[in-house]
Formats: sequence, C-alpha cells, structure tokens
Amino acid sequence: MTDRAVHIPFAEMDPTMRSLLTYENNGAMDVACPWAGLVDIVRDTPVVRWDMGVGFFSMADVVAVGNHPAVVSANPVTHETMGMGSREPLIPLHLDGDAHRHYRKLIDPLLAPRQVALYEEGFRRLADELIDGFIADGEVDLQTRYAIPLPATMFMQIFGAPMEDLQFFIEMKDNILKAEGLTLEEREIEGRLSGDRLRVRLREILAERRAAGTHQDDLITKFMTWELDGHRFSDDDIVNVMHLFVIAGLDTVTSSIGCLVGWLATHPVHRQQLFDDPALIPHAVEELMRYQSPVNVGGPRWATEDFEVNGVSVKQGDMLLLGWWTANLDPAVFTDPLTVDFTREANRHAAYAAGRHRCLGSHLARLELRVAIEQFHRRVTDYSLAPGADPQYKWEGVRAPATLPIVFSARQ
Ligand code: HEM
Repeated sequence: MTDRAVHIPFAEMDPTMRSLLTYENNGAMDVACPWAGLVDIVRDTPVVRWDMGVGFFSMADVVAVGNHPAVVSANPVTHETMGMGSREPLIPLHLDGDAHRHYRKLIDPLLAPRQVALYEEGFRRLADELIDGFIADGEVDLQTRYAIPLPATMFMQIFGAPMEDLQFFIEMKDNILKAEGLTLEEREIEGRLSGDRLRVRLREILAERRAAGTHQDDLITKFMTWELDGHRFSDDDIVNVMHLFVIAGLDTVTSSIGCLVGWLATHPVHRQQLFDDPALIPHAVEELMRYQSPVNVGGPRWATEDFEVNGVSVKQGDMLLLGWWTANLDPAVFTDPLTVDFTREANRHAAYAAGRHRCLGSHLARLELRVAIEQFHRRVTDYSLAPGADPQYKWEGVRAPATLPIVFSARQ
C-alpha cells in the first residue's frame, strides 16, 4: 500500500505549516489572517512526514489518530512530555490507557454540564461587574478589561486557590505557553523553569489547605479527597492535576473570547445578526470556535509501535501532531469551510480536540463563551474595532489578540 504521507523536510515547508508543527510563529505565519494557508494544507498536504514525525491535518485523520490505542502522550522511550512546563506527566493529559481512564472517570463529573450550570449566575454577575468598570467610557481594551479577568477570576473561584495568586499564575502560564522568539528546545527549558516555580506554590497551597483542615466546595478540595480503590492520591499526583488545570483553565477561554469578539468587532453583518436574535449566540460560539480554533494543534503524541492508520504508515517512536484547526476547515466535512455561518447544521468541530484527550473543560468553556458574549451584547447597542487599532494576534500554540481596543455605544 502506498503511504499517503507527503515527505517535506522542515526547511522546505511553507511558513504556515512550519508554524503549526512547531507551535511558534517567529514572524512566519500571517497570524491575523492565516485561513487561505490552512485550507491549502488540509486540501493539498493533509498528512506530512517531516524530520521529527508525522503531522495530521484532516478531520478523519485527527479523529483516527486521537483514538488509536498505540498513540500516547509521553515519549515512550524518554518518558518526556512537551509544552506544559512540567518535568513530570501532567494528569490526565500525559497519561494513557487505564490510568488515563481512571482519572477521567474522577475528573469528568467535576465539570459535567449539570455541575457547570451552577456557575452560570455567578459568571454573569462577574461579567456585569467588569462591564460596569468601563461602560461609561465608550471605548475599552476588551482583552485586558474583560477577556483576561472574566474567566480567570471564575477559574480561581472554582479551582479554590487564593485570589492573590492569580497574577503569579497568569505570569507562569504565559511564560510556559508563550515564550516568543525561542526555538522549541529553548521554550521547553524556559517553560520548565516557570513550571518549577508554579509547582512550588501549588505545593504550598496544598500544605496550607491541609493545615487549615477546611473543606470547601472547590476543585482543590475534591482533588485532595479523591479515592481510588480505597487510596487517597499523593501530593505529587494532586500537583500534577493542579498544574494542568492552571495552564488549561487560565489561557484557553481568554484566548477564545479575544478571538470571538475580535472577529465580531470587524464583521458588522454577523454582529447585527446576534443583536437581532440573541438566541443565535450559542450557535455563533460553535461556528466561531470551528473557524478560529484558538488551540490550533494538539500537544505532541508518540507511536508506541508500527501501525497503519487511514493509509498512513506510522513508525514506532514517531512524534505525531494533530491539527485541530485545519481539521475544522476540512472541506470533506464542512461545506464552504471558510464561510462563517451561524446557522450551520451538524457542526461537529474539533476545537476542543477529538479522541481520548478531548477537552474535559469544554462544558465550562462553552458556558463562559456564551455568557461573555450574551452579557456584553446586553449592555451595548453596537461596537467595532477602534479606528486604527491593530490587535496584534499572537500565535504560540494558542492564538489570541494581544490587545482588543474597541469603541462601543452603551445601551441606555
Ligand atoms: C475555549 C476554551 C478551551 C479550549 C479551546 C480547550 C481546548 C482543549 C484541547 C484542544 C485539548 C486537547 C489538548 C491536546 O490535544 O493536546 C484540551 C484538553 C484539556 N482541557 Fe481544554 N480547552 C478549553 C478550556 C478548558 C478549561 C476551562 C479547562 C479546565 C478548567 C480545560 C481542561 C482541559 C484538560 C484537563 C484537558 C486534558 C484532557 C485529557 O488529557 O484527557 N480546558 N482542551
């Protein structure tokens, strides 16, 4: 059988593909408007073998590889993981097989739809308080005054860490995810130094909690009281869960609000559609998440053995990268993938990943994105990007505007 993968040496790749496969832009990709390049990739080179492994860009392939039992999230030879600032496997992202299943069984109910619905009222109140802080001004940097503090404050409340730690957590998370202008290897080293500092503080928080002996209704309490086969988890295990939650919980919703509202701020017809019919907002969130897919590519996976998937020969030890964004623009799945259509039917996108490691925070994320837009739209009659503003979209694995200066008319 012929191998579907096209061999392209790294040095000969087009800039967009190079950026996707290395989670860093370094000025190569057109981050503000990369769509044409992304569709070229999924249409012309949906599977690429390069110096380090195989990149999969179509929906059928990312789903098949994401579910394949011989695909794991830590290098099976070195046991190393990448990209999250940890020297140890984070739970559950870097676990596979039974261990992964056991942890998912414990963690999934904590952020299940019925549970996250309880957070809606508080989140709406928080959104309103933040909007109160700038509604009289007629202009705002929505990224710093809304997209960052709104999900971050909510996360700290649900997570249960002291609010005074928020700035430190954001700083460490940014160092880990966004080491701009560095090679992949340099980023890993820098990221781990910040990861070390984060973990020291997470351990202190655990110790403080134990010393206080308080049981609160938050995630940290639940992590501390988990039992599997009659055994409590060690502090190492708990820190490995907490570390992942800080990274996953503090970056993605912020980046997504920035991408979604940033897009709406430059597309008046779609914006008006939502003002005319707010019931479309949940559909708009799904469609804009498909179109923008802020978490563009999955963390690296590795093959534990030789296998064939959808006509691609994978070799033991290959590093495998899964392109969620390109999969969401796959014309084999989405009619007119570059058309943003809030009434699109059967929108089964992979913005929250596909396969065993699909996002377990997706119900919370969907609620937060919907309420963030609903609440802002309730308080304004219209808005647009401020004249001359350049949001400077950043791309280091997660795409987001650095700033989002908008002008708006407040609803009287
Ligand atoms: C819009 C917001 C979000 C997006 C776009 C998103 C996206 C993703 C993606 C693409 C993955 C797979 C990563 C990979 O392929 O390597 C993932 C995994 C994960 N996400 Fe999210 N996420 C979001 C919000 C959240 C939130 C709010 C939390 C928790 C509070 C969270 C917790 C997790 C965890 C724990 C995993 C690992 C699941 C596993 O390994 O089984 N995410 N997310």
